Amino acid sequence: MNQPEFDRYSASYLDLLKDPVRDFFAGKEPGFFHTRKRDLIRDYFRNKRIDPTGHDFLDIGCGKGELLSLLSHDFASCAGCDPSPAMIRSTQGFDLQVQSGLGGVPFDDARFNFVTAVCVYHHVPPAHRLGLTREAYRVLKPGGVFGIIEHNPLNPATRLIVGRTPVDANAVLLSASETCRWMRMAGFHIDQLRYFLYVPQFAYRRIGRKIESWLGKIPFGGQYALFGIKAITHND
Ligand SMILES: C[S@@+](CC[C@H](N)C(=O)[O-])C[C@H]1O[C@@H](n2cnc3c(N)ncnc32)[C@H](O)[C@@H]1O
Repeated sequence: MNQPEFDRYSASYLDLLKDPVRDFFAGKEPGFFHTRKRDLIRDYFRNKRIDPTGHDFLDIGCGKGELLSLLSHDFASCAGCDPSPAMIRSTQGFDLQVQSGLGGVPFDDARFNFVTAVCVYHHVPPAHRLGLTREAYRVLKPGGVFGIIEHNPLNPATRLIVGRTPVDANAVLLSASETCRWMRMAGFHIDQLRYFLYVPQFAYRRIGRKIESWLGKIPFGGQYALFGIKAITHND
């Protein structure tokens, strides 16, 4: 069997992500990109007046588990999976499983209320993207939410950074409309699309949070988050 791509990057992962534009954006907070995602997920549930503390959460392609750690107190349980054993090796305290092959998510049907895939799909060959989305659908409970967060190919800074980052050598970026298409084809109802990462860390902590919420529908943020809901049918 081929070695998972990210096993090669795992030992020097943070060094491989270093980039002057990326580092300027993250400022003095190396975990800035992950905390932005945590804030965005919290805003999503808060705006819908949903308290997720009784919910079960799965992060597909969890890598080194940063998002799981940041959200560990927001959910009743947190689980992760990734095809790269080396990436998840440093993560502890969660239900972590290695994914085999290109598609299968190693959890039972209808187990989770909330599933994410963060900066994963651009590493998944286009022919396997629908299969992965169907797997997310399968492991969600009816009424559950799938959140895909991706690099925005319409943002020039994002394209510049991805183009020169070693771990993105094989990346194929996907637009929000392509992501919407996979979600719809897998059976999800599209609930919300939000663009973010307009302002760097030093501005975000002052007034940037407000600015970002105003710009959420403008399709030029560095990344976007798409949330889809698995319908509740009469048989459920
Ligand atoms: C750029 S890293 C992102 C890791 C983490 N989600 C984060 O935001 O820090 C991409 C991750 O996707 C994983 N990956 C690649 N192909 C995948 C697939 N078909 N299904 C799930 N994860 C995959 C890689 O092993 C890697 O850990």
